[in-house]
Amino acid sequence: KRVLIIHGPNLNLTGSREISIYGEVSFDEINNIIKREASKLDLAVKIQQSNSEGEIIDFIHSAKNNFDAIIINPGAYSHYSYAIMDAIGAIDIPVIEVHLSNIQKREDFRHVSVTATKCLGQISGFGPFSYVLALNAVKLLEDNLKE
Ligand code: DQA
Repeated sequence: KRVLIIHGPNLNLTGSREISIYGEVSFDEINNIIKREASKLDLAVKIQQSNSEGEIIDFIHSAKNNFDAIIINPGAYSHYSYAIMDAIGAIDIPVIEVHLSNIQKREDFRHVSVTATKCLGQISGFGPFSYVLALNAVKLLEDNLKE
């Protein structure tokens, strides 16, 4: 199965920004962890990152015919982007939302994810392992994903 990973705004700075919240593992290292897990699970991954809402929407649209699942960390857009929410709703492949931090444990405005309302599920709070868990979810659901 082919999985598109989408990292949203500011995630390119992971490892150097707000280390007490997001940890010291760098963005490149997170992507290496993702690639290692994917190859272990025999999943093909493509990794994209954007700081722009429109570009993230284009990534989602273009996944429609080329991927079996999307794993997305929409960053702060999770909390208010109805446009990304609608893009997720507009495609028929499963989308799993991930967060490095446990958004329920943080400020009130982070407790709501509008984007997750269109997702199959959400994994939050396990640092880089949130992506590892999401890849394993894709693997476990593999047989139920559309051919
Ligand atoms: C985040 C959580 C968001 O609230 C925040 O705006 C981020 C990162 C996370 O991965 O924990 O940028 O999505």
